[in-house]
Amino acid sequence: MSPLSELYEEIALCQQCEIAKYRTKIVPGEGAEDADIMFIGEAPGWHEDQQGRPFVGPAGQYLDQLLASINLKREQVYIANVIKCRPQGNRDPLPTEIRNCRKWLERQIELIRPKMIVTLGRYSMAMFFPGKSISKIHGTAQKQDNAIYYAMYHPAAALHQQSLRQTIETDMHKIPSLLAQAESMTEAEQQPQQLNMFEV
Ligand code: URA
Repeated sequence: MSPLSELYEEIALCQQCEIAKYRTKIVPGEGAEDADIMFIGEAPGWHEDQQGRPFVGPAGQYLDQLLASINLKREQVYIANVIKCRPQGNRDPLPTEIRNCRKWLERQIELIRPKMIVTLGRYSMAMFFPGKSISKIHGTAQKQDNAIYYAMYHPAAALHQQSLRQTIETDMHKIPSLLAQAESMTEAEQQPQQLNMFEV
C-alpha cells in the first residue's frame, strides 16, 4: 500500500470534529501521487460527501472544464480540500475544524511534494497567504523556497457570479507558464520540502 493510501486509511478514522458524525463519506482528496500541481478547495459539499471524492458536483464539473482549458485532466493533478468532512448545510468551515484538519493537508503536501499549490477560494488562500484579500491577490504567484503558491477564486464563486468567470478563466490560463517555471527550479531549490502553511 502506498504511503498516500495509508494516509487515507488514517484520515478515514478521524472523529475529531462534531461534523464527523454526520458525514456519509470522508473526502480525503484524490489524484496523482506524484502530481506537480495541487489544487486545494474549501470543504466537501453534498455530492462530495455522497461519493467520497473532491469536486464532483457542479463546481467540480467547472473545475474539470478549467483544467481541460489548459490541457490537464484531473488524474494528472492532485485535488484536496482544507477540511475533509462536509459541514452540515454547506456552512463555512469553523476555525476549529480547519485547525483539526490541517495535519492531514500538511501530510498530503509532504507526500505529494507538488511544485505548485493552487488555492481555490479564501479558506485555502488564508493558509498560504495570511492576511491577504482574494480580490487583490488572485492570479498572482508567490515563489517560496521550493514551490509556487498561486491563489484563485473558488470555481463555485464563478458559477454564482458571472463577472468572475472571465477572471477565473484568465487566472487558470496563467498556470502552465508558472508550472514551467516551477519545473525549471533547481534540485537545490526544491529540497528540502518546506511547508509554508500559516495558522488561520
Ligand atoms: N467545493 C470545495 O471547496 N470542495 C469540494 O470538494 C467541492 C466543492
